[in-house]
Amino acid sequence: MTTTPIFRRPVRIRFRFLAIIAVAVVLVYRLWLFPPAQSWLPLTAREGRAPVLDANSTLGFGAIYVVSKADSPRRHGLLQAANVTDIDLTIPSQPKWTEKDFGSPERKSSRGSLLAWLGHLHLLRQFIDSGLESALILEDDVDWDIRLRSLQAPLVSAAMRTVLASRSGSSAKSSWSSDDIDYYSDDAAARYPYGDPSLWDLLYMGHCGDYFHGMDRGFEAGHVRPKDLAAVQHLSFNDTSLPDFDNLHPWTASLLTNLGVPVHTRLVHRSIFPLCTFAYAVTRHSARRLVEELASLERTDHAAYDVAILISCREGGLRCWSVNPELFHHQPGKSMIAGIDNSTHLPPVDAKAKDQVELRGETPNIDCGFWDGAFAFDDGDDKTLKYLQKEVGRKGRCLKPGRELPR
Ligand SMILES: *[C@@H]1O[C@H](CO)[C@@H](O)[C@H](O)[C@H]1NC(C)=O
Ligand SMILES: *[C@@H]1O[C@H](CO)[C@@H](O)[C@H](O)[C@H]1NC(C)=O
Ligand SMILES: *[C@@H]1O[C@H](CO)[C@@H](O)[C@H](O)[C@H]1NC(C)=O
Ligand SMILES: *[C@@H]1O[C@H](CO)[C@@H](O)[C@H](O)[C@H]1NC(C)=O
Repeated sequence: MTTTPIFRRPVRIRFRFLAIIAVAVVLVYRLWLFPPAQSWLPLTAREGRAPVLDANSTLGFGAIYVVSKADSPRRHGLLQAANVTDIDLTIPSQPKWTEKDFGSPERKSSRGSLLAWLGHLHLLRQFIDSGLESALILEDDVDWDIRLRSLQAPLVSAAMRTVLASRSGSSAKSSWSSDDIDYYSDDAAARYPYGDPSLWDLLYMGHCGDYFHGMDRGFEAGHVRPKDLAAVQHLSFNDTSLPDFDNLHPWTASLLTNLGVPVHTRLVHRSIFPLCTFAYAVTRHSARRLVEELASLERTDHAAYDVAILISCREGGLRCWSVNPELFHHQPGKSMIAGIDNSTHLPPVDAKAKDQVELRGETPNIDCGFWDGAFAFDDGDDKTLKYLQKEVGRKGRCLKPGRELPR
């Protein structure tokens, strides 16, 4: 177990009194000059309740790790998006993989897919060695909304705490709404913003869809029904940063409308059929199980890493939860894996979104993201970065032509 260093900073006895006064003065000064509600978007907490905790620069996880090859052309854009959102990314450099690392030559995985797999396992090992209690793992081609830190992560963490707290109690309830969300922040919430890590294994925050069924089934009316949602533990909450149905990926819109979910409503639910591993959080326990057993290259024969995770959630006993629609989605364009394998074929999920992506100029299921380059800045231009951090990252203003700027 790690402790938050801030609470453990030693203060020598003779200075303690002065230190307390100094801290009080700084706090009063800060709160007076920068009341919290002005620096970050306030949540729609109910009246009379304590405001929810802000997400910190690692979104409430121990760290945010990124799977990224040293020469990845996506890294620069990713770092700039992180700068504007004011989140800290950890990007460990990967070893040079050799034939030995790729495992048995009989495996039917492409080279690109094996490289990605090794990259994920490498990160999981780094996380296990770090001693941190949880980590969010990102692929380096993801995009996210400008309100990730100010609104979305606080909402999802409050939602997770709510469902997990009820599960550890005697409640047999399986469905919760915004009204049930525990927006209170206490010591336990500060320590474990997403709930006690002994109660969950994997939180899918970025995926190409958890459509409640495999790709063998289509998306015609009735492909899922409200009773399918009722049958799974879930919490639904208002999220104003979610696009309306016309602007969601057509399959996501079809899923939500057929489940009977209202507009601007996001779900967290036990994972059913989550595809792709754009962004997922793990605990020490689940990371170890993945590395040693469930996603081990030696001990499994899955075609790809994301398949190993899917199967682990469905059959391997991992307690997986999906944020649906997802908060992270890979940016439109050729995937790294496809680049390595020289395939030009778009996967079906991407092919379905192609027209909409061109129309919206945004990554699927992201309302105001970074892909179009609207929030790029020159390296070293701290003035522009500070402005973007304040207006875009903190206040959530979509300063793009046709949005908050004239076309
Ligand atoms: C963010 O919060 C989590 C949970 O309390 C903590 O483990 C992590 O160290 C914090 N990150 C930073 C940068 O303080
Ligand atoms: C932007 O991100 C990079 C990489 O994380 C970091 O080195 C740099 O300090 C950040 N810049 C600012 C102004 O925060
Ligand atoms: C969700 O938002 C809608 C529309 O703004 C509002 O009518 C409804 O009361 C909200 N529900 C909750 C639980 O906050
Ligand atoms: C992909 O194309 C490049 C250049 O055209 C080539 O060097 C490389 O061997 C190809 N990779 C595969 C896996 O076919």
